[in-house]
Amino acid sequence: MTSEFLNEAYDEYPRIEDEFQAALDESLQPRGPDLLYDIVRELRLPPGAGVIDLGCGEGDHSFRLAETFGFAVQGVDPVRRNIELGNEALEEAAKQNAELRRLVRFALGTAEAMPVDDASVDLIWCRESLYFFDLENAFAECRRVLRTDGRMLIYNNFETELMEPPEAERWHAPNPGTMPANSDPRNVEAAFADVGFTIEQDITLGSEFGEYGQEHTGKPGQQLIHAARLMRAPERYIARFGETNYDIMLADALWHVYRMIGKLSSRIYLLKKP
Ligand SMILES: C[S@@+](CC[C@H](N)C(=O)[O-])C[C@H]1O[C@@H](n2cnc3c(N)ncnc32)[C@H](O)[C@@H]1O
Repeated sequence: MTSEFLNEAYDEYPRIEDEFQAALDESLQPRGPDLLYDIVRELRLPPGAGVIDLGCGEGDHSFRLAETFGFAVQGVDPVRRNIELGNEALEEAAKQNAELRRLVRFALGTAEAMPVDDASVDLIWCRESLYFFDLENAFAECRRVLRTDGRMLIYNNFETELMEPPEAERWHAPNPGTMPANSDPRNVEAAFADVGFTIEQDITLGSEFGEYGQEHTGKPGQQLIHAARLMRAPERYIARFGETNYDIMLADALWHVYRMIGKLSSRIYLLKKP
């Protein structure tokens, strides 16, 4: 006699499987990273508004914010190489658009100590750098530099209850400087509250930006195959690139995979300094 489970799995399910697969091939129309720019647009800040790109990396978004909105953007990052690359990119970009030389600059600094005057900033753009902050000091500093009614836009990924401790450890270990506590939105929200910031928008994106990336560039899928190769043949890559670089590459590949399967969840906060 066939059990109910076997009937469901091998009789009923195969009858809908193809149709179900076809339904899954249809996009759920995920929102993409341009959403961050849409939120900034809605703030209706005037050209020339003062913006800090906090943890600017190589400065891509500093340029885009200046080009899109005419903001005066200062990219701040603690890594000297990033500042140098930002300045080189500025020289290049200014050949096409000389205005950028007036609007964009880069400076060494951290979220905890920005080379910026008190109450001089309209918007802090903080994309994927919160992982590294000493929350208490960083938010006190953000409060110091923002004008009254100034905004802070944070885009970051947070761990969910699906992330197992060894997986979190594998992500944090090769990224010294990341603060595991910052992966919990409750800690981050407590830090906003401590400095008196109010939350104007709180958007949970889950895997949306990952899905968008898969649908438009295929990058998350590429990271999945990279993770598989890294995990199956570690010696091959360690011999060529060294163990530290191997660990960073694996952590990065897994980060993309985890976001697709709900162990990480993307979130946007728009904060206001009252
Ligand atoms: C994942 S990258 C994000 C770069 C860029 N914001 C982007 O969205 O592409 C994180 C950046 O945070 C910077 N960072 C690390 N510690 C920081 C700190 N305490 N304050 C500000 N930025 C920091 C790193 O140097 C790095 O450039």
